[in-house]
Amino acid sequence: MHSMTPLGVKPKLNEEGFNKRISLLLDHEEEIVEFQTVYRRADGSLYPVEVHLQLIKDVGEPVFLAIAIDITDRKAAEEKLTKYAEELKEANEKLKSLDRMKNEFLSNVSHELKTPLVSIEGYSEAIRGEMLGVLNDKQKKAMDTVIRNADRLERLINSILYVSIEESGNMKYYFKPIQIADVINHSVLDMISQAESRGLNINNEVPDNLPLIQGDDGKLIQVMDNLIGNAIKFTPSGEITITAREDGSNLHAEVSDTGVGIPSEYIDNLFDRFYQGDGSTKRKYGGTGLGLHISKLIVEAHNGKIWAKSEEGVGATIHVTLPKKSQKPSNIN
Ligand SMILES: Nc1ncnc2c1ncn2[C@@H]1O[C@H](COP(=O)(O)OP(=O)(O)OP(=O)(O)O)[C@@H](O)[C@H]1O
Ligand SMILES: [Mg+2]
Repeated sequence: MHSMTPLGVKPKLNEEGFNKRISLLLDHEEEIVEFQTVYRRADGSLYPVEVHLQLIKDVGEPVFLAIAIDITDRKAAEEKLTKYAEELKEANEKLKSLDRMKNEFLSNVSHELKTPLVSIEGYSEAIRGEMLGVLNDKQKKAMDTVIRNADRLERLINSILYVSIEESGNMKYYFKPIQIADVINHSVLDMISQAESRGLNINNEVPDNLPLIQGDDGKLIQVMDNLIGNAIKFTPSGEITITAREDGSNLHAEVSDTGVGIPSEYIDNLFDRFYQGDGSTKRKYGGTGLGLHISKLIVEAHNGKIWAKSEEGVGATIHVTLPKKSQKPSNIN
């Protein structure tokens, strides 16, 4: 039997190793054994092979049938793949470090931008309030524009700062038991004058006796301000309705409007950074496309979920679920 073995031409497989493999066949534990080894060519060069070894009985003397497949190309491909995987890993590490640098850069720039902005806003308010002298109507109008744009700039800087802090994992949350109705009432008060100036009614249908959630009220008010702000911005006429109800282990809040709605092809990307649908949204409605992204970061920090449903031309509904405060000590605080 051993005279059949190709041991002589297999520099990698010793007799013991070969015997071990064929013992599985001899003991009928396996019908075919497969292994990889190295063969030597007539010219002495080596090449990797995959061997399929089978014991053929029923033909008188049992014989071994060996199929050896040259796997030089496969091995080379595997090595290439391993090398690519390593290169990819390296590139990924580099990207992560660049991402960290970008967040630090954004955070530094935003801080630096804020300082001069505070003085621009302060002096503008003082001039508009005629603390530095009486203004004519044209000057008042001009100062209103300066103040409005400084506000916009401040909101933009705050959003960028927020995203960079959140993405670097340095955002601080202060969780405590809260009533979702308090958050929504606060937010409605924040937004009511904006809604009224556009002739929109806000129906606040949130009951004030729902189970408590464990949340950061300041951050959740920011989410609701953005959702109601969007509803106002994208609703030329009609109304905005806010509801909340208990839903299993969650509270489920909805902010619906009767506005322009969201085209179905945009729904999946709505919560991405700087996403505003097509370019026309930015031109027509302004904004930075960070509101929903920040809202998602905040909701997920509460172990909640946020998603959008809409029928174009009919309106949009943004859904938010937040886990009810458990009776047991919470793992987020
Ligand atoms: N209620 C809504 N109705 C229609 N479209 C909406 C609504 N809410 C969001 N969108 C779409 O989703 C995009 C992203 O919203 P998001 O709040 O992130 O950004 P934004 O409102 O454009 O800017 P920002 O909130 O940063 O000022 C919007 O630009 C708009 O295209
Ligand atoms: Mg917004």
